[in-house]
Amino acid sequence: MESAPLPHQSGPALAASQAEIVIRVEDAHKYYELGETSVHALRGVTLEIKRGEFLAIMGASGSGKSTFMNILGCLDRLSTGKYFLEGIDVSSHDKKALALIRNQKLGFVFQGFNLLSRTTALENTELPTLYTKLDKAERRKRASDALAMVGLSQRAHHFPSQMSGGQQQRVAIARALVNHPSILLADEPTGNLDSRTSVEIMEIFQALNDQGLTMVLVTHEPDIAEYARRILIFRDGKIKKDDLVLKRPNAAEVLKTLPKLED
Ligand SMILES: Nc1ncnc2c1ncn2[C@@H]1O[C@H](COP(=O)(O)OP(=O)(O)OP(=O)(O)O)[C@@H](O)[C@H]1O
Ligand SMILES: [Mg+2]
Repeated sequence: MESAPLPHQSGPALAASQAEIVIRVEDAHKYYELGETSVHALRGVTLEIKRGEFLAIMGASGSGKSTFMNILGCLDRLSTGKYFLEGIDVSSHDKKALALIRNQKLGFVFQGFNLLSRTTALENTELPTLYTKLDKAERRKRASDALAMVGLSQRAHHFPSQMSGGQQQRVAIARALVNHPSILLADEPTGNLDSRTSVEIMEIFQALNDQGLTMVLVTHEPDIAEYARRILIFRDGKIKKDDLVLKRPNAAEVLKTLPKLED
């Protein structure tokens, strides 16, 4: 299986000790201005994430998880505080510079799969490569490699409406991987999926993380968060808890014990 170009071996011990810091957030605050009122959505978040980590973020609705992910994903900017991505201070970047960083370094997966409906799995996957300098043949190869990585080579020419929810989310993951990001961010990627399909998605995430990809996942479900290596809990725009997962289930093993639905 070819994968994102991260030569690093992973492993909790390595991640905990010597690995490079890929994300550093310092005293982050975010205010949403709504006419007369202002919502203080992040209230002083400080955090480091090392290369090869697999972080799950939990917390009540409205606690600031998506706000934080949008910052990490360079989809939005902090009101005050610093954000360093691979050592680059992106908190001072304008929208255009953020878009460039996003396309080069980050992959994003959402709860709704956000695929283009009149476009095949392969073409959806290829989309982010259109903004790169790769030639057509290389773009096509990247897209089919990414689809293979999520086990969907057989569905390359299917349209979203011809695929199950889990398959559509796998296309969205392939699309997030196609530019070989340093970090994969996923905001409730299993929120619309049944429990077996959710574990299938976690199997893919664990495999990618085992190959060294840094992952950050938001979820409401404690069972899903357990597949990560570290769990943060947000409360009222702050980090309330930050724990390592001690006994992490292996999604591939768990799948063997779950009944399979007929396709
Ligand atoms: N675009 C926006 N404009 C104004 N307020 C916003 C905006 N986005 C989020 N908020 C507010 O910021 C706070 C944090 O919202 P956020 O979406 O980050 O929460 P969340 O933890 O992701 O919740 P959920 O679990 O429901 O997805 C909430 O009070 C929310 O109402
Ligand atoms: Mg949210």
